[in-house]
Amino acid sequence: MIKIGSLTIDSPVALAPMAGVADRAFRELCVQHGAGYVVTELISAKGVSRGDKGSKELMQLGENEHPCAIQLFGDEPETMADAAVKALEYKPEVIDINMGCPAPKVSGHGSGSALMKTPDLAYEIVKQVVDAVPLPVTVKIRAGWDDDSINAPEIAMLCEKAGAAAIAVHGRTKKQMYTPPVNLDVIKAVKECVSVPVIGNGDICSAFDAKKMFEYTGCDMVMVGRGAMGNPWIFGEIINYLKDGTIPTPVTLEEKMSTMLAHIHKLCQYKGEFIGMREARKHTAWYMKGLHGAAEYRRQASYLNTFDDIKTLVEKVLKENSNFQ
Ligand SMILES: Cc1cc2nc3c(=O)[nH]c(=O)nc-3n(C[C@H](O)[C@H](O)[C@H](O)COP(=O)(O)O)c2cc1C
Repeated sequence: MIKIGSLTIDSPVALAPMAGVADRAFRELCVQHGAGYVVTELISAKGVSRGDKGSKELMQLGENEHPCAIQLFGDEPETMADAAVKALEYKPEVIDINMGCPAPKVSGHGSGSALMKTPDLAYEIVKQVVDAVPLPVTVKIRAGWDDDSINAPEIAMLCEKAGAAAIAVHGRTKKQMYTPPVNLDVIKAVKECVSVPVIGNGDICSAFDAKKMFEYTGCDMVMVGRGAMGNPWIFGEIINYLKDGTIPTPVTLEEKMSTMLAHIHKLCQYKGEFIGMREARKHTAWYMKGLHGAAEYRRQASYLNTFDDIKTLVEKVLKENSNFQ
């Protein structure tokens, strides 16, 4: 159990925010499989403040995906505070501030991970958002900007001082992007210097990785990103393994395919078949990973246009893989 301000979360595992991946359809699916907390894709505070259509769409939350945080990015305290107030209309339980995004269009303008280089501004943003909304405000940070400026503990302390109710730490620097193994020591160091809950993030691809993250860093909750792509079962596996050591058993092919179809059906329902099926292509490729003939299925997935196309592909996969389970 973890308490983020007044919010109590029973599950030890959260879904990480992932632009282009963790949309409403995927978040709902992950909650259904045990994720106790989910976060929207990053949303521009300027866009929200201006009332942009795209930002409004990103803030739409489903009934079945709570508790959920709306994640905002920006570099102007007033705009961040204004956006946080506007976000309340969409009924999130938490407002999360992005201090980790390495993308040039975000960090190149002083937002996201660049805020870790401007601690005074980072503090002011958190403070103004905390003062503006009646919800818990959390911050997602990285280890630092680069190897020569690992400052996650200092930034976490500043965020706590400004009123943040929890800190999520992705244990890599901005320069490292997503590749080298996650630095658990920096997450541990953050945990040792703040008293608000710390959410450990990075490279959790199995229940065993989650246990290691908890034991090594002492964090209060773990957050799974890429490990959940095509694999929403990871949440239940983590919960069961932590509870009583249950070793995860492989998901059957039938379950995999029916979950994938349900996921893509929702995607089409929320975004329309044209956009939904284009976005379904990458998800399909992730679900197919490891299957006999996966490379060819992935190639075929890149041509999916209609929901009927994916149903046909699934029939083919089930027929061709029945002997390989
Ligand atoms: C495709 C993709 C999109 C991401 N988008 C966001 C985002 O919108 N906001 C954010 O804070 N982090 C974002 N991240 C970072 C993840 O939340 C997470 O910190 C990172 O992937 C490390 O966790 P993992 O090793 O479990 O994937 C993104 C990561 C990926 C791979």
